[in-house]
Amino acid sequence: MLEEKILASVTQNGFYKTEIDPTIDLFEAIQLLKKEKNAVILAHYYQDADIQDVADYIGDSLGLAQAAANTDADMIVFAGVHFMAETAKILNPNKKVVLPDLRAGCSLSDSCPPELFSLFKEKYPDHLVISYINCSAGIKALSDIICTSGNAVQIVDSLPQDQKIIFAPDKNLGAYINKQSGRSMLLWNGACMVHEIFSLEKIIRLKIRHPKAKFIAHPECESDLLAIADFIGSTTQLLKYTQLDSCNEFIVATETGILHQMQKACPDKIFIPAPPNNNCACNDCPHMKLNTLEKLYLSMLYEQPEIIMDEQLRLAAKRPIDKMMELSKQFGLLG
Ligand code: 13P
Ligand code: SF4
Repeated sequence: MLEEKILASVTQNGFYKTEIDPTIDLFEAIQLLKKEKNAVILAHYYQDADIQDVADYIGDSLGLAQAAANTDADMIVFAGVHFMAETAKILNPNKKVVLPDLRAGCSLSDSCPPELFSLFKEKYPDHLVISYINCSAGIKALSDIICTSGNAVQIVDSLPQDQKIIFAPDKNLGAYINKQSGRSMLLWNGACMVHEIFSLEKIIRLKIRHPKAKFIAHPECESDLLAIADFIGSTTQLLKYTQLDSCNEFIVATETGILHQMQKACPDKIFIPAPPNNNCACNDCPHMKLNTLEKLYLSMLYEQPEIIMDEQLRLAAKRPIDKMMELSKQFGLLG
């Protein structure tokens, strides 16, 4: 019955239908398509709760790259943003990689265009380039090592102290690594629109109202915010911290999608999203939230929008990702 309904929705006068029969249970239909197409759904913690609930794997950028490298599925449905799906394609040239909404970009990645970065890099020929995975394949191809927020400090620490380094594109994560490692890496002036929106003033007020709450933050946040954090880590590290720490109340400075897993793992604990400095009271990533359960279903049904890459660019971008994977394995780091 469900199979018939799905089939009936595939074409209409030779065109793909984008309206979905409202009687189709999308959760069931997605499970069916998953089996039929030998597909795997990889979702970032910032995705909608419904998407997280149908995913085979939910993780941070490091975990997702590792999951993409290890899958034997024929099709990877990447519920995240473009640079993440692109990384999955770089690691899996022979698999189909689809992204529910191809417009799901990233303000941080956009803040570092390869043409400008290339000119910047030329000025410092004796510097090694470490780039945060939140960048385009073009930037990856210009880099020596890729890192994520889950392994950045260890990767930088593994290099000789006198090694000159350019870090791109996130100036906040870069400043955090500089502080942790006692270095002075040259920082590209990029930032994430979601992690720069928090209001220090409102957080301080919130801490006063919730004296028992711990304040935890992602290293993409600005340094004045990180200075008052009880714990700083990638999304996976923040999630683990809330599970292992005895505290029952947390103020969380990162995208709100992560609260779904925090609440699921610890239903009796209280999670308060850190307030932004605007009146909309939300710190959702508008790029991540372009993906919906409906678009995810359609992307599985039609096997598009697909990530297509130039082979030369893919190979150049893969080299620094391989280096990161190798180092993460060496350090025993999992996302
Ligand atoms: P992590 O997945 O490394 O925690 O980074 C968060 C982020 O901003 C992804 O876009
Ligand atoms: Fe990019 Fe920030 Fe959105 Fe992550 S949360 S995808 S870094 S804009």
